[in-house]
Amino acid sequence: MVNLGFSIGDLRFKNPVLTASGTFGYGSEFDDFLDVSLLGGIILKGTTLEPREGNAYPRMAETPSGMLNSVGLQNKGIEFFEKNIYPRVSSYNTNVIVNINGNHIDDYVGLAERISRLDKIPAIELNISCPNVKMGGMAFGTNLGATRDVTRAVRAVYPKKLIVKLSPNVTDIVSFAQAAEEEGADSISLINTLLGMAIDTGSMKPALSTITGGLSGPAVKPVALRMVWQVARSVRIPVIGIGGIMNTRDAVEFFLAGASAVQIGTASFIDPGVSLKIVGGISDYLSSKGFSDIKEIIGIINRQGTGKS
Ligand code: SIN
Repeated sequence: MVNLGFSIGDLRFKNPVLTASGTFGYGSEFDDFLDVSLLGGIILKGTTLEPREGNAYPRMAETPSGMLNSVGLQNKGIEFFEKNIYPRVSSYNTNVIVNINGNHIDDYVGLAERISRLDKIPAIELNISCPNVKMGGMAFGTNLGATRDVTRAVRAVYPKKLIVKLSPNVTDIVSFAQAAEEEGADSISLINTLLGMAIDTGSMKPALSTITGGLSGPAVKPVALRMVWQVARSVRIPVIGIGGIMNTRDAVEFFLAGASAVQIGTASFIDPGVSLKIVGGISDYLSSKGFSDIKEIIGIINRQGTGKS
């Protein structure tokens, strides 16, 4: 038997494969494809205090080895979540985590307070990295002072596990991770999407209504891996790697770089059952290499030396 479990403080995850916010709905959309309870956790769609319509269409565009989205955090707001979604997701036998968003610090604080009252939600993911909204989102995650302020404010009202989701659209990712850790984050997840754009040469117009959007998929994986490696060696809290993980091999790269867990995002659009296949694949990989616990390989490239100073 291979031990795949990992923890954020005293919060146990049965395995290190979670699904990324905005790519897995509220879980039930995937019930026909896999047993959601066998995953390490699911991060639910980005939630705000008030309902949001999201951005105008078109808000998705395919790009080489990736896709752009500018959904704009479409969701029905926290009240709808509490009444209609929470009772449904509570039945999953895994960690169900809510991704929270706001225009202002008070929005994040208000959401965190309400979600802290929901017994079956053991953690929130603080989204300070959405690139598709005019206020909030990435504006917090690309400014060190704002990252500190929002993390500190949410920490003050939220006693359960606080994961801060970072934006890759910064020069020095390590300083943002350390700021979040210093302000009380229990874990860091990265990366959210890279700001990008595409133009339709036929219509001579931008492919997205918002002109720019967030790039995800295999195209971003090398950037994500580099940032996870940099952050994992610079903080003491667990790091959750996200970015273009399409299969077991991709996931393993993130563990070797120092991630304690991974989130599967865009890959679920191509194969809705892929996240569970990756759980099995990681176990097979560890057995084939003679390891009995995933912790043995986390950050192993740093222990072996890379040939670089
Ligand atoms: C969106 O809804 O626009 C994407 C969410 C995100 O990138 O955090």
